[in-house]
Amino acid sequence: MTAPSPGDGRTEPGSSSGATSGASAAGGGPRIGPGAHILVCGGAGFIGSCYVRDVLARRDGTRITVLDKLTYAGDRANLAPVETDPGMAARFAFVVGDIADPTAVDPLVAAADAVVDFAAESHVDRSILDPSAFLVTGVVGVRVLLEAVRRQTELARAGERRHADGRQMGAPRFLQVSTDEVYGSVEEGSSREGDVLAPRSPYAAAKAAGDLLVGAYRTTHDLDVLVTRGANTYGPHQHPEKLIPLVATNAIDGAPIPLYGDGLQRRDWLHVTDHAAAIDLVLRRGDPGAVYNIPGGNERANREVVAAILARLGRPWSLVRSVPDRPGHDRRYAMDGGRLAALGWRASVPFADGLAGTVDWYRANEAWWRAAKDAAWDDYYARQYADRLAASTEAPAPGALAGGAAGEEAPGTAR
Ligand code: NAD
Ligand code: TYD
Repeated sequence: MTAPSPGDGRTEPGSSSGATSGASAAGGGPRIGPGAHILVCGGAGFIGSCYVRDVLARRDGTRITVLDKLTYAGDRANLAPVETDPGMAARFAFVVGDIADPTAVDPLVAAADAVVDFAAESHVDRSILDPSAFLVTGVVGVRVLLEAVRRQTELARAGERRHADGRQMGAPRFLQVSTDEVYGSVEEGSSREGDVLAPRSPYAAAKAAGDLLVGAYRTTHDLDVLVTRGANTYGPHQHPEKLIPLVATNAIDGAPIPLYGDGLQRRDWLHVTDHAAAIDLVLRRGDPGAVYNIPGGNERANREVVAAILARLGRPWSLVRSVPDRPGHDRRYAMDGGRLAALGWRASVPFADGLAGTVDWYRANEAWWRAAKDAAWDDYYARQYADRLAASTEAPAPGALAGGAAGEEAPGTAR
């Protein structure tokens, strides 16, 4: 068979690995269709909860169990639209638990047709302050999930994996939700799925380790696994630690907005509903063993994004403070999305609409983000920003920097 490379994980068409993977050999045809039972790890967070809401809202018979540790970033209120709708609630279960705990994971994987792993510590700045939890969840946690999938795959291959009613069950499909940050900073061009991984922050290193483990379990145990690498994601329900919600919520309060360095770092923005839809497409139609980039197609300088948020809220640029840069700050991320496009996917939310809708959501849902800005938040905020803000300077107005000419726009002109 053609062994997939760890950085790519793609099974070559026609290889024995593709033909005999868990999905087809053990299960007899595609099973992640309507009626499937999906275990969603980290489903109370920003992207995971969007995935759960959107998949269940299709009302196609899909059942979902969420396993979530409810860290500071997990909020069961994100799932209220599901839990308060009788039709959706009947197909939904919530379990509080840790993906690094086999006693929580094993029985849930045993009952699932597919596992989608969103669970992670997800904020780069926190990984710089203390990476411990990033590694436990991103390495040990992914290993625990993969071991459970391996056991279920072996049972399925032996014809011994069964539903409660005795029907035979195929092997579980596993999708690891990863990030463009595993490729490192991309000065020009765009990353492809087979590129060498070059993570530069502890967060990105933990995510890359997860990707490599998934590739290793594909090579070693021929599991039916997939990896998606999504771009910077934005939308409602994102924790206020991330750039867009931090800027929106601080602006609403008239508080200083910390802009790292020159603010000319570039990110490719992907709306959360597009990210969730792409993950679902890959889960249902992706080639076993493959990695899929999910670009947003909206590359912007941070200053540009900040200016657009302020314009939407009618707040002045003078709130923005230039603060000392994040150590090891990646300058730019960009990915090639050809492989995902070949599955028939394209992003559907224009950035201007998505950003306006997101800012409006934060304006309309103060109770949600004020609950997230609790005492623990105050502690984090002080550790992350007190010294930086004390050393801050006035941020040059957008367009005032020589380097800002390329691709930077005046406030209020978000496309
Ligand atoms: P988030 O921080 O909003 O949510 C993470 C969720 O995982 C929370 O509900 C948290 O309680 C849960 N969790 C954390 N550790 C856990 C553990 N050990 N066991 C069980 N649950 C645990 O994150 P997000 O922004 O929704 O990101 C979801 C996934 O997508 C992450 O894997 C992240 O690396 C990836 N990703 C995020 C972005 C982005 O821009 N936000 C972009 C690309 C990829
Ligand atoms: P972030 O939302 O943390 O995502 P990531 O670091 O994973 O890309 O940050 C997005 C960009 O915004 C990144 O270049 C860092 C920058 N940023 C600031 O300038 N100030 C801030 O307070 C934050 C949180 C981020």
